[in-house]
Order: sequence, then structure tokens, then C-alpha cells
Amino acid sequence: MELTPVLDERSGTPLYEQIYAYIRAEIVAGRIAPDAKLPSIRRLSVYLGLSRTPVELAYQQLLAEGYLTSKPRSGLFVAPLGQPAWSPRSPRQEPTAIEGAAAGASPGAASCNAPPVRLDFGYGHTDLEHFPFAKWRRLMNESFLASNRRLFRYGDLQGEPELRAEIAAYLHQVRGVRCTPEQIVVGAGTYHSLDLLCQLLKPAVSRIASEAAVNDGVRAAFEQHRFAMAPIPLASDGIETARLADTDAQAVYVTPSHQFPYGMVLSIGKRYELLNWAARTGGIVIENDYDGEFRYYGKPVPSLQGLDPSGERVVYVGTFSKALTPSFRISYLVLPAPLLARFCDGRHSYDQLASPILQHTLHLFMRSGGFERHMRKMRTLYEKKHGLLLHAVKTHLGSRATVIGDGSGLHILLRISGPLCEGQLIERAAAIGIRVYPVSTYELEAEKAPSSTVMLGFGGVASEQIDSGIAELSRVWPGMAK
Ligand SMILES: Cc1ncc(COP(=O)(O)O)c(C=O)c1O
Repeated sequence: MELTPVLDERSGTPLYEQIYAYIRAEIVAGRIAPDAKLPSIRRLSVYLGLSRTPVELAYQQLLAEGYLTSKPRSGLFVAPLGQPAWSPRSPRQEPTAIEGAAAGASPGAASCNAPPVRLDFGYGHTDLEHFPFAKWRRLMNESFLASNRRLFRYGDLQGEPELRAEIAAYLHQVRGVRCTPEQIVVGAGTYHSLDLLCQLLKPAVSRIASEAAVNDGVRAAFEQHRFAMAPIPLASDGIETARLADTDAQAVYVTPSHQFPYGMVLSIGKRYELLNWAARTGGIVIENDYDGEFRYYGKPVPSLQGLDPSGERVVYVGTFSKALTPSFRISYLVLPAPLLARFCDGRHSYDQLASPILQHTLHLFMRSGGFERHMRKMRTLYEKKHGLLLHAVKTHLGSRATVIGDGSGLHILLRISGPLCEGQLIERAAAIGIRVYPVSTYELEAEKAPSSTVMLGFGGVASEQIDSGIAELSRVWPGMAK
């Protein structure tokens, strides 16, 4: 196992504390599995280019706190942590069938002891009550015609051309992206698309600057490819672009239309600063526009890609997981010419994992105007749910709650003033059958995680359950004693 903490020698925090905090956060988040063997002190200190002392001190602290156990003559291992009432795993995921059966509980139950989940504010969930099932059945039937034999073979490596043409037209119209179908590479979900992107970025890119809080799967994709991550703090108008110059990064990762998870929009001034930085340094801007279609106040914010005068510096990453359903596993990259050339030269080991049949059916859905109608309907529906949620928070939690990141997307954050920390807020909710989710796991620097803040997705929650759900939470989340 390699450990790659981002260490800041100029910060006031001693190196051993930074290493300790990093490893502890990785263990708590489940990114280092129980029983995993840690690298020896010598190996890790050589790898990090440090003396042995900070690594030794960090290990000692982790041992003392029970995160590690020592096995004579074998080394240090991650201790089993025991099951928290909430799952540290990404809230995008449902529990596996085995976990569900083991818990003897309804799907979504978080642990053996927690009561069955009655209400799940999972942010990866979309509304299925309004999914156009009949239309998709009809279109799937159409794809299954015997004359469509090519769809039953391995598909086009880049994605089915007819779908790429629809995506290019849609992106231009709705997100202001300027591209041709030839620039699009279809993927089986954002992380699959990022895996390809990582291959294409190397070796020119070795360090990626990033918003200081990042989706866990995105971070895992970058780290698996051994990019060093340089966290950049977030302000109310997005990433502190002025700090980019200090990082030596060759690429920067952003979610400009709706920062994940904090929800701010990258200001137009900063968009131009990012593009200027990219033009000046030859850097690449990676724009993840995972839910930019859903904006409830004012107009949708056009993509950053569409502002790039050169058309060469921005990689646009998109997905159908929010707009349609995560289960189809269809995402895409829009590659600028230099990276497209690397893709076409075959400088990667990419395999097309998105089903050609689903890709073709999605193309039929888009071509028929069904997707546009669906998006209009979902925007109205999510806007209603978003309004109901904000109203319920105001009514039942009042000044106890600060809402963060409202106005777009399918989730909000709630900072709850009072005695409870994030884990306690989650545990208390789980104890009454309601799931809310941590935010701290997304911070690249664990010690900068916000306190007492949780994430609530509203896409998959029934409108009728929102008010009563928040009322129930207000009863188990006490305010500050007067
Ligand atoms: C920042 C971000 N990007 C992308 C996605 C979607 O990932 P996928 O396309 O793999 O479903 C999510 C999931 O909710 C996300 O939070």
C-alpha cells in the first residue's frame, strides 16, 4: 500500500500530525481496509522524502488510539473499527444484498442495530415515480430488433456515434458546450470516464490542483493513478484561483456550476482566471458538470468549456446519472484536440463498458424529444422538492439550521448549531430510521472538515415525506441550551 498525504511543510501543523490525520481519515472513511498492512516506517519516510521521526510519531499516535495494531515480526495493521450506525461509504451506493440480508432489514439499513430505514436522504438518488418507464420499454423493444445486430456486438470504443451526435447537440443547446461528436468519448459512469482521462493526462500531468472538498470517487480515481493532489481553499464564489500559481499543478479539477458538496457557483471572474492560468501555463481544466442542468434560482450557469476561446484547455465531464438514472451507467468526456489525439493514438487501455444497447436506446430517447421533455418535468419536480425541503427546514429547525448550497442540484447541506457533531447528528437520525450523510469525508485535508454539518439529498425522497421527515429530525437534533 502506498500512502500519499498532501503535506504542507509551511503550515503551522507539525508533519507528524498531518500524516496522522491523513491516515486516520483514510481508515475512518474505509479507504484503508481493516487488516490492511501499513508500509514500514522506513519505506513510508523514503517515499515521502522525510526523516523517520514524523512517520514514527504518527504511527505511535495511531497505535495509541487503537487505529492500528502491531503484530510481532509482521508490522503494523489497521485495526477493525467496529460498525458505526451510519455507513462511511459513499451515499451514492445502496448496501449490497449480502449486507441487507445480514442485517435482516429493509434495503438501505445501515447496520445490524439500526432500525430499518424509513426515509433516505441519499444524494445519489433520483425520482423514480416520474421516470418514463413505458417510453423506455417501447424504445428498448425498438433497439432489440434483429436488424440492429451491431448493437449485440462489442460497441464502438468511443461510444455509439448516433448517441455522441445527440450528446453534442444537447450540450451545445443546454450547457453552452462547443464540441463535435468526434470529441466525445462515452463512459460507464463518471469514475470510468475519469479513469480514461487520467491515462490521457499522463505523463504531462503529475499534480492536480483541486477544490479542497471533492467527491470521494473522483478523488479515488485521481489517487489510484498516483496524481499528487493540491487542495485549493473554497470561497463563497468558488475555488481561490489566485492560489493556483503556488501549486505547480499541471491540471485543476473543478465543479464550477455547482461545487460538490458545498454548492457554490464559480464566479465569472474566476472562470476567466482559470482559463487565463490554463492558457499561460499550458494547464488543463477538468470541469465536472455532474448536475448543472438543475438550477432553481435564475438561469442555468453555462459551462466553463464554452468560455474557452482556444477550445483546447478544458475537459468537460458529464453524466446521465442525475438527469435520468444512475443505473444506466452512461457518462461522457468532451476532449480537447490534444487529448483526443492521444485517445486516437491508442495511448490508453480503455475498454468501452457502457452497453451499446442502452447507448442506442438513449439516443432514440433523445432524438424523439423525450429527454428534453423529461428534463423539463424533472426540473419542475426537483424545484418543488427543493422548495419543500427549505420550507420544512425553516419551519422545524429555524435558526438552529444554516442551509448551505441551496438553489441547484439535488442536495443541500445543513449546519446544525448545538452540541451535536456530524457523527452524532447522523447516528441520532439513523436511530429513528432516517438517513442523512457526512460531509467531512469529502475534505482533502481532514482537519479542515466543517463541524456539525450533514448532507441531505432530496431527488429520490417523496414530496409528501419531506416535511414530516425534517420535523422528526428537529426532535432528535436539540439546539444550543439557552
Ligand atoms: C461530483 C460528482 N460527480 C459525478 C457523480 C456521478 O457519478 P456517476 O456518473 O458515476 O454516477 C456524482 C454522483 O453523485 C458526483 O457527486
